[in-house]
Amino acid sequence: MAAISFAPASGVWLLSTARTSYALRIDDTGAPCHLAWGPRLSLAAAADLIPPPAVEVSSFEGRPPAGEELPVDGGARYGAPSLRVRFADGTRAFEWEPMGHRIDEQTPGAAELALEFRDRHYPLAVTLHYRVHDDTDVIERWTVLRNTGQQPLSLLRADSAAWTLPPRDDYRISHVTGQWSSESLLHREPLPHSETVLTSRRGITSHHTSPWVMLDAGDATEDRGEVWSAALAWSGSWHIIVQRTPDGRTAFTGGAGQDGASLPLAPGEEYVTPCCAAVYTDGGFGAASRAWHAYVMAHVLPHPDELRPVLFNSWEATGFDVDEAGQKALAARAAELGIELYVVDDGWFGARRDDKAGLGDWSPAPDRFPAGLGPLVEEVHRLGMRFGLWVEPEMVNPDSDLYRAHPDWVLHYPHRTRTELRNQLVLNFARDDVAAWAYGWLTRLVADNGIDFLKWDMNRALSEAGWPGRTDGQDLLWTRYVHNLYDVIDRLRADHPGLRIETCSGGGGRIDLGILSRTDQAWPSDNTDAADRVSIQYGFSQIYPARTMAAWVTDVPNQLTGRSVPLRYRFHVAMAGVLAVGGDLACWTPKEIAQGAELVAEYKEIRHIVQHGIQQRLRCPVDDAPSAVQYTTADRREAYVLVWQRAPRHGTPRPALRLAGLDPAARYRDVRTGAVHHASVLTGYGITPDLPCGDWSSTSLHLVRVDDEGAGA
Ligand code: GLA
Repeated sequence: MAAISFAPASGVWLLSTARTSYALRIDDTGAPCHLAWGPRLSLAAAADLIPPPAVEVSSFEGRPPAGEELPVDGGARYGAPSLRVRFADGTRAFEWEPMGHRIDEQTPGAAELALEFRDRHYPLAVTLHYRVHDDTDVIERWTVLRNTGQQPLSLLRADSAAWTLPPRDDYRISHVTGQWSSESLLHREPLPHSETVLTSRRGITSHHTSPWVMLDAGDATEDRGEVWSAALAWSGSWHIIVQRTPDGRTAFTGGAGQDGASLPLAPGEEYVTPCCAAVYTDGGFGAASRAWHAYVMAHVLPHPDELRPVLFNSWEATGFDVDEAGQKALAARAAELGIELYVVDDGWFGARRDDKAGLGDWSPAPDRFPAGLGPLVEEVHRLGMRFGLWVEPEMVNPDSDLYRAHPDWVLHYPHRTRTELRNQLVLNFARDDVAAWAYGWLTRLVADNGIDFLKWDMNRALSEAGWPGRTDGQDLLWTRYVHNLYDVIDRLRADHPGLRIETCSGGGGRIDLGILSRTDQAWPSDNTDAADRVSIQYGFSQIYPARTMAAWVTDVPNQLTGRSVPLRYRFHVAMAGVLAVGGDLACWTPKEIAQGAELVAEYKEIRHIVQHGIQQRLRCPVDDAPSAVQYTTADRREAYVLVWQRAPRHGTPRPALRLAGLDPAARYRDVRTGAVHHASVLTGYGITPDLPCGDWSSTSLHLVRVDDEGAGA
């Protein structure tokens, strides 16, 4: 049971989750201080943690950068601040004055703590919020800042939270980096001394890194060891700054925004930071990931209980060349394959024949869809599939009617170049009129055409992010852009409760807990090469569950990499997430359609295990050995294992694959062969997967518990 308690004698607040504790107090200066984050403690034990009074090491040290709940720019502090404010008279130093606390345990399954403060002199109220839940060890934190004065002030940095790790002999950091078409590549390296900054300054979450971090003492493995991890629920620019101090401590601060942009706060105005969630786990990186997957399913996704349908997407099949007849023909093939959701990608609207024109003119191109989208939608529905459509509402091609009518709607500065990327400019979604325009055409489009699914794309980073006409625009827009984006999506969903949305930004440019709380799945990468995808999916799985990971089977040679791998391998890789097909079905041979249909049917049999099950990364992707992932239903009745082998060297050892997470006393039947195995053998000694010989071989294993036979049988 999650709980929050307070010991007046010691002044300690203790946040308890099922397996972890988090403790804090207010120090002599009034600042909120960190005491503990790790294994469970009693309130009495937490009182022992009160740190000894700081000893002045030298006149150059000041307050240590680790150990505060929200280090401010103020006093003798020299680490990375979480809160930096400029008051109306130019003063910057913030000084804490505690104003009380509230514990709220009214919401079933959750408990909340609010610690209230204000500045000792200036009109700024700061409330630190904490929330714990019964069903997860994830702790949610956010901060609320309110201007209680008569003059504006500026928030130069307003992070969601700072987190301090307990002392350990060493520290290591895990995070992902990448770029377009090579997102989510996992790095696990010694934590550098001093400061490590993970950030996006692009106005989107970015392909280049993802807003989460994992830290360990250098000794965790996939299956064992303590891991402290955190993730931000924010879809614009962001930063996480990890500090490793000279006295051997580690702490990090995370929040929205980037250096150089500040947030104006008008008199009476309040800013609520996005949530920064974090979890301590003691079961290796695998347990950390499983804690995140469960949290995303229980507390982030809007419809976690649904099974995601198998979709077809037209992009790699037809590119911009979409029309009614061609899409109807493809839809017929898709239906043969067992597809459940047919998605028409880019090219259906305005003068969009390539990426040079038409973006912003969101009506069906009359030469391609003479009677609008209606006949195609009807045909797709008639074939028993749902209908989905690609949109990119935040963008405009300069060669478009929209831009000709509203050149001032884009982000720009007077006297500055409007840099085009992919021949497009970014609409200023921070403007309420632009957001209202987008909401208007989107809600009509969905209602008028019976659209079931939108792939919401965003194909460039922000540049020349100006908002002429508003003196505070340049600062305001980074936050307001994201808030308006969220608001348009929220209103659309409210208007159309059956509508489902995929987040896409040229692949994985906008995947985070913020966007996932209002979308149903994510497109992790434009790279659909199954061989590359194994590593991308591995990095993605560190935080995000398989239920959110769309994965297409496309044609070979792959359009991006030129590599050819067998259809079965492509399917098996895509079956590790939300299976989809993106190949040109018009060119698939009857044999390929039949093999595809068989694998789609297999996926439908097991997708509840993949999409709702518990994931174990049995073997990480490395060049020679096969890599494998297992999914197990929460009741451990069924398990599904996927194994992929790259091009092995002759003589590469193929050690038996040890499964995990099975009911130890049970036996399991292999659905394909009928063979029955003891769980104790499968997990303790392993099995040898029946991988066909050759390069790019793959296999799957579906196990069902033999309920009526006991362990001793
Ligand atoms: C982006 C997406 C692709 C496709 C194209 C269309 O790159 O990530 O999947 O939708 O845009 O222009």
